[in-house]
Order: sequence, then C-alpha cells, then structure tokens
Amino acid sequence: MIPFSLEMPRAVHFGAGVLSKLPEVVHELCASERGASEPGGADRRPRVLLLCGHRWLRGSPWSASITTSLSGGAVQVLGCPPGEPAVRSVDECARAAADFRPDVIVAVGGGSVLDTAKALSALVRYPGSSERFLEGFAGSMPVPGPCLPWVAVPTTSGTGAEATKNSVIKAEAAGVKRSMRSRHLLAHTVLVDPELTRSLPAAVTGTSGLDALTQLVESYVSKASTPPVRSLVRGAFAGMWEALEGLAAAPADIALREKASYGSFISGVALANAGLGAAHGFAASVGGAYDVPHGLACAVFLPHVLQANRDVIQERIAELVSASPALAAAKDPVSDLGAGVTRLLRAYGLPSDLRQFSIPAEKAGELAEKSSGSSMRGNPRELSLEERASILLRVI
Ligand SMILES: [Fe+2]
Repeated sequence: MIPFSLEMPRAVHFGAGVLSKLPEVVHELCASERGASEPGGADRRPRVLLLCGHRWLRGSPWSASITTSLSGGAVQVLGCPPGEPAVRSVDECARAAADFRPDVIVAVGGGSVLDTAKALSALVRYPGSSERFLEGFAGSMPVPGPCLPWVAVPTTSGTGAEATKNSVIKAEAAGVKRSMRSRHLLAHTVLVDPELTRSLPAAVTGTSGLDALTQLVESYVSKASTPPVRSLVRGAFAGMWEALEGLAAAPADIALREKASYGSFISGVALANAGLGAAHGFAASVGGAYDVPHGLACAVFLPHVLQANRDVIQERIAELVSASPALAAAKDPVSDLGAGVTRLLRAYGLPSDLRQFSIPAEKAGELAEKSSGSSMRGNPRELSLEERASILLRVI
C-alpha cells in the first residue's frame, strides 16, 4: 500500500443536538490550556472570543442559547465583515481579537467565518499581517508554530472548512485568493450539528452543497489522493448527492441535512489530505478578481474540468458514482456527473455559467495564469494555459 498521512482536528462531534456540548468543550479546553501554562490558571474564568457572521448572531434562533451557554466565562462577540475573507478585513479582526486576549476562539458560521478563525488563531499568537503567511508569494513564511486553540461550529454544509488546515484569503493588491496553510491551523474541536443548517436559504444550500460535492469529486481523483481519503469520500458522495437533490424541495428535512453536513465535513477532511483540482483552481482565480461566490464558481467549472480530465479519470469516476442510485446506471459516468451538476445548479435557481458577473473575455489569459495555485497542481492531468483559457471562455 502507498504511504500516506492523515491530519484532522483533534476531536469531532457530529449529530443533531451536539451543539449542547459547546460549554463543556470550551471549559475543558480552557482549563487544560491554562493549567498547562500558569499555576492555578485552570480555575480562572475562560476568555472566549465568539466569532460569527456579521448578521448571524443577531438574527439566528441559536444566538441566545450559544451566548448563554458560554456565560460562565468572559465572552466577546466579534462579527466578521460581509463577504469572503480578505487581508485587510482579517487583519482588522485580528487586532480586535488580540486586544481581548482570548484563551479560545469559538467560530460559529459558514466557511468565511471558520477560515477567519483559523487566521486569527495564528495572528493572535504571531501578531502582524496575514499577508506574510499566504503561500505562493515571494517572501511568504510558514505559520511558526502552535496557534490559539479554536472550536469550529459550522452553520452551512458545504465548505468543509471545519476540517481543513488552510484559510483562504483574498489578497486584494494582487487580485488573487491564496491560502494560509499549516497543520497548526486545524480546529481543536469540531461540533457539526445539522440542526444549525435547517433554515439556510436555498441559494446558500445550493452553492455551499455544490462546493462540498466538487471537493469530494476533486479530492477523489486528485494527484495526491490516498486510499483512506477515497474510502471516506466513497462513503459520503451518494448521501451528498441525495441531499442536494432533495433539499431544493424539502429544505427542512433533517435526515437530508445530516447527509449534507456529513458530506461537507468529509469533503474538508479529503481536501486537507488529498488536495483538489482545476475547478478550485479556476474558482480561486475568478473569485480573487470578481465577486463570484466560491461554491457557484466551483460547480460551474466542474463539468468542464471533468471533460478536460476525462481520459485519466473515467475509472475512478465510475467507481465513485456507483453507490449513488441517481448515477449508478450511467453509461458515461463523466458526462452524466457533469450534466447532473448542471441540473442541480438549475434546481437551486443558480446559473450554469458566470456571464452575469460581466467578466471581460480578454481577461481569460490572465485568469488562466492566475489559476496556477495549489488546487491546480492537484489536478489529475496538466492543463496547458491554452486549455485553461478555453475553459474560462466557455464559462465567463
Ligand atoms: Fe471549495
């Protein structure tokens, strides 16, 4: 068997109702952190930075119960600014977080909030701009060592950010998205409670779920894929597909929400340990320069990327979709999977291209070059700049 490594958060609690474990998790985490660093520290009130989406905590039925459950400690609520994380907004949040001197960060939100928490866990310990830790820039440096512990409570089922070791941040000056990546950024504890996703709007269910689906597919066929990752992905793919098919019409179905949350979590484990592919490479490039939601970009590019990779992925894709009733009988699994993704986009009222974002066609060459990040390197075959530009022209 080929050698492999698996990196995951230290503890994961999954299931409807596991949010009730939050106070106990925070208490134990603070006690062990403080007990280790200062005599008698375990008995002091924990200082908890509660990071959330700027609107979620005010508008959600869960906000009151979360803040009350943490009231044994000193709690500061910090709302992330709207949109996906960018160097300036992350650095601002980091300064506010450092002023509070938290013992632990609890991040309640979607992928953007969870990725911001990862960055803050590093920046509170190692003050300065997030930009210096972003990979792929001249002079960038690795995260130096252990970071502030953080607890992930995802409220969407899509990005898998609760299980990953990278924080995707837009570098505004360069017009690209890059990752701060380190095993030190992994969450200490993850609480995946599908109840939290029950009231998600359809468009968010669709874009975040299709992001997870793309992550499952790309990690399954990536150059760095490993047997344990493929085993996990095979166990999650059919449920994720079924959830996406069903939630468009039955958004409050908790059994489907559980499958989507499971698929999302596994997609995070998979991407953290096996990398991704060209759909994510394009999504990073387009999303760095234009306000295209990440999950939408991934899903729109995926059918084109599947076709471009066709010669080297047919067997693996046939194996992956074989457990999914909707796709198991496919005569051409690669094309049928791509057509199925386009159908799912339509079911959530989402477009199957990015024309509405008015990206000029003459930008295709530049976007092709900017797609050469770590995701593109995981793609199962090398795509030339001409091939990439041709895919971009079909999508934008
Ligand atoms: Fe993604």
